[in-house]
Amino acid sequence: MATNITWHPNLSYNERKELRGQSGCTIWLTGVSASGKSTIASGLEQLLLQRGLAAYRLDGDNIRFGLNKDLGFSVEDRNENVRRIGEVSRLFADSCSTSITSFISPYRVDRDRARQLHEEAGLRFIEVFVDVPLEIAEQRDPKGLYKKARNGVIKDFTGVSAPYEAPISPEVHLRTDLKSIEECVEIIYQYLLKEKLI
Ligand code: PPS
Repeated sequence: MATNITWHPNLSYNERKELRGQSGCTIWLTGVSASGKSTIASGLEQLLLQRGLAAYRLDGDNIRFGLNKDLGFSVEDRNENVRRIGEVSRLFADSCSTSITSFISPYRVDRDRARQLHEEAGLRFIEVFVDVPLEIAEQRDPKGLYKKARNGVIKDFTGVSAPYEAPISPEVHLRTDLKSIEECVEIIYQYLLKEKLI
């Protein structure tokens, strides 16, 4: 960390929440490629915006075009990818927006660190396990990536040649082979209502 830097006090989260009339939080979607993370995240963002709530989606593929364009898929780069997204999503949550992240985020330790970052700032972190049997994700293969991974064209592919550590006690567990995208979005929406986060 740099030296000679000073932290400037800001409005507190509670003051901002009072003025804004909305609690911020982070909805952290995790799951293998083709599990449905991005589609659920888009649906949820749209629903919240339609209801007049502030919401913003941070997506794995998209963020790698800009903020995280210097990162690949080694263990270290995935750690750094998730660390940065943990920080960015915390800022959105602190601004009293519903921050929706859709990253594979395969390592428990990285997701737990993102949770800790939020909780230390008094912000809620909702881990959503977007679960699907790997065989079904592989059948879906919308981008042809599993095929390339099986052929050895892509190295370190999650679920094939790199690990995915499933959440142990996520706040929300969705099986996307058993429920439609609309049902999954509604389950998260109802959870947010129940927890008085929207
Ligand atoms: S991670 O593990 O959280 O850092 O990954 P993430 O930032 O979510 O990026 C995942 C998307 O990158 C594409 N892709 C790969 N995924 C997994 N493993 C490897 N090796 C890989 N190479 C490219 C893929 O499109 C992922 O998007 P989704 O939406 O998950 O399919």
